[in-house]
Amino acid sequence: MELSENHTEKSDNNCILILDKLGKSWSSRAQVKNDEIEVDLIYNPDHDDFIDSLLPFHEHPRYLEIDDETRTLILSSGWIAYNEKTIDIEAKIISPVCNQLIYSELPGTNNHIIRWLAAETLVDEAYHILMVLNTCYTCRKQRGLLELKLPSFDLVNNIEKEVSRYSHDWQKKLVRLAACVVSEVFISDYLSLLANADEVQPVNRITTDYHRKDELAHSSIFRNLTKEIFHHLSYKEKTFFCQVLPLPVHWFASQEFIVWETILNQLNFKYTNEVIGDCRAESEINLNRIDYSELIQLASEVGVFDMIEGKESFELPRVIILNFHAST
Ligand SMILES: [Fe+2]
Ligand SMILES: [Fe+2]
Repeated sequence: MELSENHTEKSDNNCILILDKLGKSWSSRAQVKNDEIEVDLIYNPDHDDFIDSLLPFHEHPRYLEIDDETRTLILSSGWIAYNEKTIDIEAKIISPVCNQLIYSELPGTNNHIIRWLAAETLVDEAYHILMVLNTCYTCRKQRGLLELKLPSFDLVNNIEKEVSRYSHDWQKKLVRLAACVVSEVFISDYLSLLANADEVQPVNRITTDYHRKDELAHSSIFRNLTKEIFHHLSYKEKTFFCQVLPLPVHWFASQEFIVWETILNQLNFKYTNEVIGDCRAESEINLNRIDYSELIQLASEVGVFDMIEGKESFELPRVIILNFHAST
């Protein structure tokens, strides 16, 4: 089975029309068209770089009793990890799919509007990488964290693990597409957590908010792209896509304890084993922080729930899509 079989089929929905409008609005909406933020000039070390509630151990007694200096460093490390994870999402999850779209490697994408929009989106994502690299570097310099090293994130590791389970190229591409689509649906919420945090370092909030604005458009882009691609998949490919689409929900919910363990050890936090051990024992993932409604809506619009396999995949115990029955 080849993914390219149906490339020349015409669409019978209005996705291309919507994608065309989104492409035409790029010049006026894209953050890359605005002046760059002078991060070094705005950075204020009196503000924390991150918020306690985003740390997976923020309620642990050992964290609640730490001194201000260590707490500041942990929060700054949280900001660095948040951004390094954002870079991974852009560089390892979204950009490869944009490149596949530019080369029309996915069904239904042999279309100038889609290629053009994918190129615009790729520019946006490259700009986001530049923005977060700049803010991260300033934070590292200001807080003496230039040497802080992070291991790879569960999110990326899980995608690669899933991709490696399949032998066919079309299966691998659809796993990456599912991860990309879910990322683009979830990233706005992920960014809102910080963009709306009044007490945090102003430049971090501003940077995150600029990024979030682009991602609101990307969410519509990928919603319509998914519809268009799904429409052109064979029954076998549709079934497979339905099965893998909910998986990234769990990958996104990872509390990234390996990353945090590495960070806390480098900061010489003496209760690292106790804190990470206790939190891990509770749960490796935190599904409470994830709003599934948009993914459920996307799956519904795309036609995933019109297929028995789609319904079943969203009901699998390992997926645990909360309120699924209530939402459909
Ligand atoms: Fe982005
Ligand atoms: Fe994006």
